[in-house]
Amino acid sequence: MMQRPRADEHEDFYRTSLGKEVLDAEVELLLDLLPEEGRVLSIGCGIGVHEAALRERRPAMDLTCSDLQDEMLRSAPSDLHLVQADMTVLPFPDGTYDAVYEITALVFVHDPEKALSEMARVLRPGGSLVLLSLNPLSKWGRDRLGQLPAPWGELEGLVAMVEAATGGVVHVDHALNLEDDVLRESTGLEDAALIVLVSQRPTSRS
Ligand SMILES: C[S@@+](CC[C@H](N)C(=O)[O-])C[C@H]1O[C@@H](n2cnc3c(N)ncnc32)[C@H](O)[C@@H]1O
Repeated sequence: MMQRPRADEHEDFYRTSLGKEVLDAEVELLLDLLPEEGRVLSIGCGIGVHEAALRERRPAMDLTCSDLQDEMLRSAPSDLHLVQADMTVLPFPDGTYDAVYEITALVFVHDPEKALSEMARVLRPGGSLVLLSLNPLSKWGRDRLGQLPAPWGELEGLVAMVEAATGGVVHVDHALNLEDDVLRESTGLEDAALIVLVSQRPTSRS
């Protein structure tokens, strides 16, 4: 049976030199993809390491950090705005956020369609949904996806679900080659450990 992610394992990983490199690279990606300011919701934030970095680097961002597990949130910096929440039933009104993002959290959910429709619901029209997800096209990604619920299987399945949720076009890009547990620049979708999916909720004019 699949184990729940554990806070102590996250802490140990982000203390390693690979963990620090991965964190830095992911934070740079988020800085590129998220707005300079406005309301941003992190889904499945775990121990909040990305969010602590974002708070330092982008202080004008009004960041809410959510996770299902209290155990994770107890290990996150207490000065973050932390909310215990299941991504399939988000406790936020429609259209609250300018951007919503998740990093390898959607793969733990048995009903990703519901989770994505909740993420899209809390986005304002024109707001962005950003997913950093394990890549089913790389061996590294497939090896890990095989042990998780991630019921979409192929990349096309995930793209279709995101499109259905936001009603907008989905842009897919490759990120981070982690073969042999070394961080390298990925050259394409075949060697990327993670993919980035970005989709905007259309405005009434788009
Ligand atoms: C692999 S960890 C990633 C944590 C963090 N995003 C990171 O990259 O360090 C996945 C996270 O998703 C959270 N999670 C799992 N199911 C969830 C759900 N239904 N709603 C919200 N968070 C969930 C877990 O508690 C865990 O913190």
